[in-house]
Amino acid sequence: MLSAFILNYDEKLIFDHIKQANDKIIFYFPVLNETIKSNLEKLCLKYCVEFKYFYSFKGEEYQLQMINHSNDFFKKIIEDFEVNCPHDYFSIIIGVDHYGLMGDLNLNIMLAKELNSPLYAKTNDNYDILNFLLKKKLDHFVLLKNEENFTLAKPYAYKTQARFSHELFKKAKSNKQTIVLPESFDERILRASEFLMQNDLVDLILLGDSNEILSKANSINVNLDGVRIINPKNSQYNEEFEDILYETRKAKGMTKEKAKELVQDITYFGTLLVHTNKAHAMVSGASTTTADTIRPALQLIKTKDGVSSVSGVFFMSLEDQVFVFADCAVVPNPTPEQLAEIAYISANSARSFGIEPSVALLSYSSGNSGSGISVDVVKEAVKIVKDKYPQFLVDGPIQFDAAIDPLTAKSKMPNSKVAGHANVFIFPDLNAANICYKAVQRTAKSLAIGPILQGLKKPINDLSRGCLVEDIINTVVLSAIQAQE
Ligand code: ACO
Repeated sequence: MLSAFILNYDEKLIFDHIKQANDKIIFYFPVLNETIKSNLEKLCLKYCVEFKYFYSFKGEEYQLQMINHSNDFFKKIIEDFEVNCPHDYFSIIIGVDHYGLMGDLNLNIMLAKELNSPLYAKTNDNYDILNFLLKKKLDHFVLLKNEENFTLAKPYAYKTQARFSHELFKKAKSNKQTIVLPESFDERILRASEFLMQNDLVDLILLGDSNEILSKANSINVNLDGVRIINPKNSQYNEEFEDILYETRKAKGMTKEKAKELVQDITYFGTLLVHTNKAHAMVSGASTTTADTIRPALQLIKTKDGVSSVSGVFFMSLEDQVFVFADCAVVPNPTPEQLAEIAYISANSARSFGIEPSVALLSYSSGNSGSGISVDVVKEAVKIVKDKYPQFLVDGPIQFDAAIDPLTAKSKMPNSKVAGHANVFIFPDLNAANICYKAVQRTAKSLAIGPILQGLKKPINDLSRGCLVEDIINTVVLSAIQAQE
């Protein structure tokens, strides 16, 4: 679908240049401007073009939405655009025009990025300053002065936070899965449950006493219609689960009494629901440590065939791109073999969530620039990955700057295909990975989605104890997508 984001509406730009690409055009106003709309309507009449348009926000209501719920604001715009633009039409997006060209510039650049529609503008005044400002924020754009030659620009490929979230929600909805949330006593879990149900993203099972859960929900004004509630103290599954737990773990010292007791533990019960296919995935950990949350899964669900270690990735959603960091959650000191496996599995995780992987195994050394025991571990891991999986793009040891910045890459690792373009970052150990993801999350306006555990036969995912409702929603959605595979 062809589209153009018009920064400042101009008759010639739209009707002489852009319209040449397709006779059928449709106008989209993220924020409706009545004056521009009626001008465009008249111009359509003049050029004998049918006037078709739609919009997302009207008047000044958008400002409150944008300030208070910026992610929802942009997601609505992405959704409206996707749903309402016919595929055989050229979509012309009209930039917001409340405070003039410069006043709305940042918002319009963000909108062009959210919609991945190349930005066009025609201006004589402000040409140089506009050129300078746009260059800092956009890969490319078309800025015209007078009668310069015109060429159509290719669409952007940004993955903004709103777009990533929109894509994930869409995927989760396309094949709804059942997710168990054991921690029903936590207000954040109840609020996330309401959102997930109302947006039809997943089916949910909460664990606990239904009277207690519903009265707590009621007291905080949360609607849990449609949620299934199971009480691990007296459910129809307890006997079955006790037998499974005892049989699976008796060689490790499990007794029948212990199994009876453990089945009533919400994390074991939730894990057993997934293990026995009564739910597709579990999300827990808002009140427990990572170790306590994932231990039952390591003991019962176990790893997929061919995978030796479970590990955890974070999707670091930055302003206009998404990076994958691993292993931020599980293996404290990986061996070269484990590091190689983490790299391979993380590349696959990236691909399943719509990111084409280019994998960097990070170190304090790029190529042969530094030496040390930990550099040797990374070197060995890279050798294993390259030998075992020659088809995928991987390199290391490499420093973060050389992995991400094409200019630094040119001087530090000029022959590497990954250097300068990496998007999957494998850290040498849990210390480095965990510290780094939190540093980026807290300082770079990044949304950290995860950790998503990879390598288990069925999805069990861990929440941070400091998680927000939004984090719970995102982790449930990612778990549902994992369960679809
Ligand atoms: N992959 C697969 N199986 C594993 C793994 C793994 N990475 N680690 C342990 N196991 C298995 C063991 O083989 C064992 O199986 P078995 O009992 O059937 O033989 C079972 O899990 C239990 O193993 P233990 O070593 O006894 O388990 P323990 O609970 O001591 O350790 C754990 C496992 C929890 C993963 C541990 O390595 C750990 O604590 N890791 C760090 C977790 C953490 O604190 N992360 C940082 C915070 S997360 C965040 O900030 C987002």
